[in-house]
Amino acid sequence: MAEIEIRDVCLNYDTPAGRVTGVQDVSLDIDRSEFLCLVGPSGCGKSTLLNIIAGFIPPSGGEIRIGGRKVDGHGMDRGVVFQDFAQLFPWRTALGNVAFGLEMKGVPKDEREAIALEQLRLVKLDKFVKSYPHHLSGGMQQRVAIARALAYNPAVLLMDEPFAALDALTRDDMQRLLADVWRETRKTVVYVTHNVSEAVYLADRVIVMTPHPGTVKTEVQIALPRPRDPLSVEFLDYQKKLLRELGQMQN
Ligand SMILES: Nc1ncnc2c1ncn2[C@@H]1O[C@H](COP(=O)(O)OP(=O)(O)OP(=O)(O)O)[C@@H](O)[C@H]1O
Ligand SMILES: [Mg+2]
Repeated sequence: MAEIEIRDVCLNYDTPAGRVTGVQDVSLDIDRSEFLCLVGPSGCGKSTLLNIIAGFIPPSGGEIRIGGRKVDGHGMDRGVVFQDFAQLFPWRTALGNVAFGLEMKGVPKDEREAIALEQLRLVKLDKFVKSYPHHLSGGMQQRVAIARALAYNPAVLLMDEPFAALDALTRDDMQRLLADVWRETRKTVVYVTHNVSEAVYLADRVIVMTPHPGTVKTEVQIALPRPRDPLSVEFLDYQKKLLRELGQMQN
């Protein structure tokens, strides 16, 4: 059985200007421990789909099951990381941010701090546990956000362009770090990106969406051993294949 089952999911936004399709007729099975990337043109519905999986918005039609249970609101089985650096609590230290979900769950202080420290170690921030978000770089803040999403040990990690606002070098570092984190934790990951190189670097499978109103166009399995070499011929071939599917390359 797939870890995440998405069946005939659609979503309409009702706005003062009329009804807008957010995403249309998406059906998809995602296996346990799979790293799945979603790519597609701006406005096709990637964030909408991720938000439906997260349980932040209910679909207008269809349903999603995670571990066999129907998604109905947000749950502790899903950790979410967004693009925005402002997703952390500015008044809490890195450790306080990561421990937050555990605190809500009623985990005792010593235990939650030990878990938070472990997660910060995983994202290589153990020297910054006492730092506040405004004293951390963008990449470090995103690492805290990843540690926070992992802290309560969710089955599924949902990420919406988490590195899009970073400079190219930091972004490369973060991709490597995320690949390591995934290798160690074996979470099921759904990762939204605009960047085909990022998708080829990270994914087991890439779902290409159609332009708005978006649905699944095709899927590409990335059959490359890890760690992947972005300069290899095979890597560039996958990038070209994805760009072709996205209509951004002619031949
Ligand atoms: N809150 C909202 N209210 C009304 N329409 C919305 C809302 N959020 C998104 N939409 C519309 O739904 C469609 C899908 O938007 P979504 O944000 O999911 O796209 P996306 O693929 O994530 O785009 P991007 O790559 O630019 O982040 C778009 O046409 C958008 O205008
Ligand atoms: Mg988006």
